[in-house]
Amino acid sequence: METRILQPNPENIRLCAQRIKSGGVVAFPTETVYGLGASAFEPRAVREIFRIKGRPNDNPLIVHVSSLEQIREIADLVSPLALKLISAFMPGALTLVMKRKSCVPDCVTAGLDTVGVRMPSNEACRKFLAECGVPVAAPSANTSTRPSPTCAEHVYDDLRGKIPYVLDGGECEIGLESTILDVSGVAPKLLRAGGISIEELERVCGLKIQTVSSTGKALCPGMKYKHYSPKAEVYFSAYYGNMFGGINAHYDLLVSSGKNPVILCLDKNASLYGARKVYRMGADYGDYARMLFASLRRADSQNYDSVIAEGVPSEGIGAAIINRLVKSSGGKII
Ligand code: TXA
Ligand code: MG
Repeated sequence: METRILQPNPENIRLCAQRIKSGGVVAFPTETVYGLGASAFEPRAVREIFRIKGRPNDNPLIVHVSSLEQIREIADLVSPLALKLISAFMPGALTLVMKRKSCVPDCVTAGLDTVGVRMPSNEACRKFLAECGVPVAAPSANTSTRPSPTCAEHVYDDLRGKIPYVLDGGECEIGLESTILDVSGVAPKLLRAGGISIEELERVCGLKIQTVSSTGKALCPGMKYKHYSPKAEVYFSAYYGNMFGGINAHYDLLVSSGKNPVILCLDKNASLYGARKVYRMGADYGDYARMLFASLRRADSQNYDSVIAEGVPSEGIGAAIINRLVKSSGGKII
């Protein structure tokens, strides 16, 4: 199958939506990462997503919607707390896990009695979802275990020949996936840190949110799998005053054992690494987040075999960056 990258003009958006409505699979942009979508009501198309990605089928998909009506169509008991979160953060980078309605096929939810629902804010995405007219089940549009795609070319690199269209919305504004909050129980639980910070959620909820670390176990089925891994070995530094010394020492150790490492650092820190190879990750942690997955892919394409990422503070988007670095490094912290 030929894979075409399409600009998001009205004609191409219609073409992609038509493909979804007729039971096909299409990649599309969101403000977080690109998604690989199919109609949530077409089990055969949904199973095709799992096959194309090589995704274990016990890992449920998020359902993408364009309106509150569509949320009510698939989720039961939209509680006062859920409504509050919806009005504060949707459209945006928040996924709410809610009790599902029986119209949602088991293959979407991996047999769970809940469904993850998200309403993206990216403009091309909103037009595409509105044109689809059905909720669209979609994981990130990467091959399983690879870093999530933050531009159309990343999708093309992973899925060329396996899907007909990639709707090209340019570079994703956030670059890390949505925050996943489970509001199906008595107290809201954070299942995955992401584009909306825990602090923002707590402000709107007016209460402390339980996190994976405070409850001691991972609750999101997907998080038990290997994730976000380039070919290069990834290491990341804890965030502390003299992390630069530790990073330089680790870099030099790798070089002395014949490796070819690159350091991911904020622009303002680049000079602290002397002549060592660095990728500049922008001015702040929002930039760092936006460039993280692309930098992991870039390291592979430029034949670096090791990546050392600077540590970041755990507030705001930092929590999501740390989560992705823990996953992509397999916990190799220095
Ligand atoms: O930003 C995002 O969320 C992107 C874009 C495309 O929307 N999507 C995304 O999907 O990251 P994916 O499949 O790569 O990650 C979805 C995560 C998985 O870890 C999955 O286990 C979890 O969401 N999930 C989905 N439905 C769930 C449910 N009902 N209960 C608990 N976790 C759920
Ligand atoms: Mg993913």
